[in-house]
Amino acid sequence: MSAPASPEPLRVAVFASGRGSNLQALHQAILCGALPAQLVGVFSDKAGSGALAYAETQRIAHSHLDPKSFATREDFDAALMQNVAAVCPELIVCAGFMRIISETGIAKAPCPMINIHPSLLPKYPGLHTHARVLAAGDAEHGASVHRVEPLLDGGRILTQAKIAVLPDDTPEQLAERVLAIEYPLLIATVRAIAEGRIRLNEGTDTRVSWLNHRLELE
Ligand code: GAR
Repeated sequence: MSAPASPEPLRVAVFASGRGSNLQALHQAILCGALPAQLVGVFSDKAGSGALAYAETQRIAHSHLDPKSFATREDFDAALMQNVAAVCPELIVCAGFMRIISETGIAKAPCPMINIHPSLLPKYPGLHTHARVLAAGDAEHGASVHRVEPLLDGGRILTQAKIAVLPDDTPEQLAERVLAIEYPLLIATVRAIAEGRIRLNEGTDTRVSWLNHRLELE
C-alpha cells in the first residue's frame, strides 16, 4: 500500500516594501524543508526594494505597483488585491509592508492576511518602536504576528516573541536583536497555520503560546 500523499504546501504570498529579510527567512525555511509552504508571489509598493530584488534572483513571481499611479488608497489596494488573487494564495504575509491597507482593500483580500510587527502589541503600533521602548524604560521588547484588520498594527494577535532590553541598548541594537527573533517567530507562525494549529478561516484563531528564540532554535 502506498503512503498517503502529503498535503500540498500552503500557498503564501508576501507583501513587502523594504529590504525583505523576513521574506528571505521564510524562503530559506521553505528551501531547507522546515516550512511546508510555497511562495507564490511577492508584491511591493517600492520599485527598488530588496524584497523585489530577492524575488527576482530566486525566480519567485513578483510585481510592483506604484501608489502614485492611483488616485486613492482604495484604488491602489483594489489593484494590489486583484494582482495577488491571480496567484491563488491561501495566506498573505505582510513582512515589512509599510502601507496601511484600507478597510475596502482588506475586504477584497482573497485569503487571510497576517502582519509581523516589531513590538509587543498592543504596545507601540506604528513606527519607531525601538526608540519608543527605550524612551519608556521598558524591560522587555519583542515582535508580534497578528491578523490584518482595519486597524494600524491592531488585528488579533496570533504569536509573540520577546527579548530583554539591556541597560546600554541603542535603538539600532534593539532593532537588530528584535529582527533576529522575527525570523523564527514568523516561520513558526506560518508553519502553525500550514499545519492547522492556527486556524484563520474559522474565526477561532488560537493564540499559540509565547515563543522565544531559544525555543525556536531548538
Ligand atoms: C521588520 O522589522 C518588520 O517587523 C517591520 O519592518 C521590518 C521589515 O524588515 N514591520 C513593520 O514595522 C510593520 N508595521 P525586512 O524588510 O528586512 O523584513
